[in-house]
Amino acid sequence: MILREYLAQQQRLVDAALHRLVPPETTPPETIHRAMRYSLFAGGKRIRPILCIEAARTIADESAGVLPAACSLEMIHTYSLIHDDLPALDNDDYRRGKLTNHKVFGDAMAILAGDALLTLAFQVLAQLDAPDCCRTRLIAELAVASGTVGGMIGGQVADLEGEGKPPDAQLLETIHRAKTGALLRASLRMGANAAGAAESQYEALSCYGEHVGLAFQIVDDILDVEESSEALGKTAGKDAAQHKITFPAVYGLETSRRMAQQECERAHAVLEPFGERALRLHELADLIVRRKS
Ligand code: IPE
Ligand code: IPE
Ligand code: MG
Ligand code: MG
Ligand code: MG
Repeated sequence: MILREYLAQQQRLVDAALHRLVPPETTPPETIHRAMRYSLFAGGKRIRPILCIEAARTIADESAGVLPAACSLEMIHTYSLIHDDLPALDNDDYRRGKLTNHKVFGDAMAILAGDALLTLAFQVLAQLDAPDCCRTRLIAELAVASGTVGGMIGGQVADLEGEGKPPDAQLLETIHRAKTGALLRASLRMGANAAGAAESQYEALSCYGEHVGLAFQIVDDILDVEESSEALGKTAGKDAAQHKITFPAVYGLETSRRMAQQECERAHAVLEPFGERALRLHELADLIVRRKS
C-alpha cells in the first residue's frame, strides 16, 4: 500500500476509535461535547496516534489497547492546541483550517474543552483492558510527557517566557524538546509498551521518537516562515510577529532545514535492528521532514 493510502486508512481507524471514546454531542451538557468534538474532528494529521500504532506494529502483529492509547495521545495533543491558541497564549484565530475553538465557543468553553480532553485521555488509559503494569506505564508515560518537567506544559511555559528574549540555541532546544518532542517521543514509547517491547526495542523506538520529535518542531518553525496560512490551516508568520525563539530565528532557514534532515537521518539509523518491520516508521520520519502542512 502506498504511503498516502496507508495514512488515510490509519486516520480513519483513529477517527472511528475517537468517535467511540468521546461522548456524543447529544450528551448533556451538549456544549462541552460539541466543543471537544469540534477541535478533535477538525482535520488533524493524527501523526502521534499513527506513530504509536506503528511502534506497536514494529514489535508485534496485534496489540490490544494500542488504539485507545493512540487516541489518548491525540486528546492531549488537541487539548494543547486549543489552549495554545487562546488569547492568553498564542492568540490564534485559525486551526486545522477552521476558526479556533475559543472563536466559536468562547474562551471559557475552550478552556473547559481542553481540560475535558486532558481528563478524558487519562480516563481512557485507566479503563484500558490491559495488565496492570502495562496500564500504569502508559499512564505515567503520558503524564510525564504532558507535564511540567521536560514535558509539554514545561515547554509551553518556556516558549511563552522566551518571547522577545535574544535567540539562544540552548534554550531553543530545551523548548522544542519539551513542548513538542516529549509527546511525540511518548507516542513511540506508549506504542512499544502496549506491544510488550523488550527493553532494547523500547529504547530504540524512544530514541527514534526523540529525533523525529525534534525534527517535527524544527519543520513546524520553518513552515511558519515559508508557507501560507491557507496551506497550514493556521496563521502563518506568527512566530516572528510574536518574537518567538525558533529554529529559523536562531539558525536561519537553510541551517534549520539541514538540522531537521540530520535528525531524520538519526531516526533512520536507530531503526536498523528492526529491519523490514520498521518500513512505515522510516516513511513517517521522511514525511515529518518533507511535509508542507
Ligand atoms: C501542531 O501539531 C502543533 C505542534 C506541536 C507543532 P500538528 O502539526 O501535528 O497539528 P495537527 O494535529 O495536524 O493539526
Ligand atoms: C505548539 O507550538 C506546541 C504545543 C504544545 C501546542 P506552536 O505554538 O508552534 O504550534 P502552532 O504553530 O501554533 O501549531
Ligand atoms: Mg505556541
Ligand atoms: Mg501556536
Ligand atoms: Mg508553530
